[in-house]
Amino acid sequence: MGALLEVKNLSVRFDARAGEVQAVRGVSFSLAAGEVLAVVGESGCGKSVLCKAIMKLLPPTARITSGSILVNGADITAYRERDMRRLRGKLFSMVFQDPMTSLNPTMTIGAQIGEAVRLHHPRLSRGELRSRVEELMTLVGIDRPRERMDLYPCHFSGGMRQRAVMAIALAGEPSILFADEPTTALDVTIQSQILDLLREVQQKLGTATVFVTHDLGVVARVADRVAVMYAGKIVETGTAEEIFYDPRHPYTWGLLQSLPALSRGRDTLRAIPGMPPSLENPPRGDAFACRNPYALAIDYEEEPPMFRLSDTHYAATWLLDPRAPEVIPPIGGGLHG
Ligand SMILES: Nc1ncnc2c1ncn2[C@@H]1O[C@H](COP(=O)(O)OP(=O)(O)OP(=O)(O)O)[C@@H](O)[C@H]1O
Ligand SMILES: [Mg+2]
Repeated sequence: MGALLEVKNLSVRFDARAGEVQAVRGVSFSLAAGEVLAVVGESGCGKSVLCKAIMKLLPPTARITSGSILVNGADITAYRERDMRRLRGKLFSMVFQDPMTSLNPTMTIGAQIGEAVRLHHPRLSRGELRSRVEELMTLVGIDRPRERMDLYPCHFSGGMRQRAVMAIALAGEPSILFADEPTTALDVTIQSQILDLLREVQQKLGTATVFVTHDLGVVARVADRVAVMYAGKIVETGTAEEIFYDPRHPYTWGLLQSLPALSRGRDTLRAIPGMPPSLENPPRGDAFACRNPYALAIDYEEEPPMFRLSDTHYAATWLLDPRAPEVIPPIGGGLHG
C-alpha cells in the first residue's frame, strides 16, 4: 500500500530582517493510513513550521525552497489557497496548542461544531445537523451533549475546550489529523485524558495522526512511529519501540535522559546542556556537535547521512559509521540501559 502522505526533502525558509531562517532543512517522512507519527524535539526545531508547510498555513514571509509533498500520490506542493480549501477539514485537519484561540467566544459550542459539520455536509436538515453534533460531542467524551451544546466556550474548562476543538477538527472525517502540542496548555491529569482520547478516537476512526510534542515522555502511549527533530532536520526515526529501546542518536539519548520517569532514584533530572543553534546560520557539519559529548572531529566538518538500522529505523550520526569508535549509550539513553 502506498503512503497517504509523503514528504520528500522539504525545506522551508523565512525571510527575516537579519537574514534567512532555515526553519526546516531537507525533511523526509511518510505516513500510512491510520498511523500515528510523533514529531519530537526541543522548542524552535521546526515542528510547527513543518506541519504548517504541509497544510499551507505558513505566513507570506515563508518559502518552500526544496522538496515535495504528496498526498495519495498527488503532488500538492504547488497548490494554492483555493485548492487547499477543498482539502482542509476533509483531508487534513488540525488541533493546536491553545484551545481558546481556536474557538469563537461569541458562539455556542454546538453552533461552532455545527458550522464545521455543515461545511462538509451542506445539505443536512436542522435535526440531522443536531444529531451529528451530538454524535461528535459524544465521540470526544463530552457528556450530556444536548445540554452542553448551548453553552459558550467560557463555560467550558480547558480540557473540555480541547475536546470541543477536536470535535470541530473531526467534523469532516479527515484522513490526517495534525495535533500540534494539543496538551501543552493543560494540567497534567487533563493532559493524559486528552492523550487517551486522541488514541481512542484515532483507533475508532482510523485517522492518521501527526502528533507534535517536545515531550518524549508522552509519545510512548500515543505513537506508532517517532521522528526526532533537531535544528530543522529529522535526526532519528523509527518505530516507538526502536526509539525507546534502541535509540542511536546522542540527541535522542539526551531527550530520553531528561525524562522524569527515567531519572527516578537519581539526584537530578538531566536536561541536555547548551542550546540549539541559530537557524539563521546553521553550523557546518552536524548541528548537534557542540552539545554532543560523543562528538567526533568529522561532526564539525561534514553533515552525517541517515544511516539505516532497519527498514523502519534510521539515524543521522557519525557514530554509526563503521570507522567510528564504539560508544556505549548512557544509562537511560535506551530503556534497557
Ligand atoms: N513567522 C516566522 N518568521 C521567522 N521565523 C520563524 C517564524 N515562525 C517560526 N520561525 C522560526 O522557525 C524555527 C522553527 O520554529 P517552529 O515554530 O517550527 O518551532 P517548534 O519546533 O514548533 O517549537 P515549539 O516547540 O516552541 O512550538 C524557529 O527558529 C523559529 O524562530
Ligand atoms: Mg511549535
